[in-house]
Amino acid sequence: MRSLLFLFALLFALCTHPFHGEAQGPIMQDVLDTNNNTVQAGKDYYIRPVPNSVSTICRPPAPCVFGSGFALNSTTPNKACPLNVVEVRGTGQALTFTPTNPNTRDITTNSDLNIKFDVKSNCPESTVWRLVSDASSGQRIVTSGGVIGNPGQSTVSNWFMIQKDDDDYNLYFCPRVCETCKPVCGNIGAFLDNNGNSLVGITDKQYKVRFQPVSS
Ligand SMILES: *[C@@H]1O[C@H](CO)[C@@H](O)[C@H](O)[C@H]1NC(C)=O
Ligand SMILES: *[C@@H]1O[C@H](CO)[C@@H](O)[C@H](O)[C@H]1NC(C)=O
Repeated sequence: MRSLLFLFALLFALCTHPFHGEAQGPIMQDVLDTNNNTVQAGKDYYIRPVPNSVSTICRPPAPCVFGSGFALNSTTPNKACPLNVVEVRGTGQALTFTPTNPNTRDITTNSDLNIKFDVKSNCPESTVWRLVSDASSGQRIVTSGGVIGNPGQSTVSNWFMIQKDDDDYNLYFCPRVCETCKPVCGNIGAFLDNNGNSLVGITDKQYKVRFQPVSS
């Protein structure tokens, strides 16, 4: 009888264990915008680097703080497309966030998201963020041409996360949309390339950002 009870207990533990899987990962909290409202899927926001965020790849005498907004621009001389994500002065361009479950409205930390510039582009690529290896800078950078949704192996480079960082947030690449993929995770920050562009890509330190609603 006792061994039977033990068996039931074991079966119960095995069966319920998967439901606790999520709690073992990082905590998912609502992401708040600069008005302290929860960031909503599909709404327009500016990603604003926190003013004293300093680039980690900093080549003096170039300035080590690059801009105050994120935008798409061409960064290769004589090559209009594809557009890459860069830091610019001002607010930058509006972006939207889309979680893996398109019915989810509230954007949470530590969950996979597509990020899309809500702008018209003259290039054939979409305005959805995608992480690629950039031959000219030797870094992994955020470019355009991703797709929204379809979480899995074929879209693994299109998913980004928002992490809590003191009173602010940072962006992180560590997609969990594909169990067999082993993505090399990293912080998303900004650095200067040899053409003077403030590229957005993988950097070794966390880079604080805030989310400013476009209309409030
Ligand atoms: C948001 O909440 C924080 C912490 O409670 C507070 O310091 C800040 O002033 C609030 N900002 C706005 C815009 O209400
Ligand atoms: C893209 O870069 C060019 C050259 O630096 C600049 O003139 C233009 O305003 C930029 N476009 C945007 C959308 O920032």
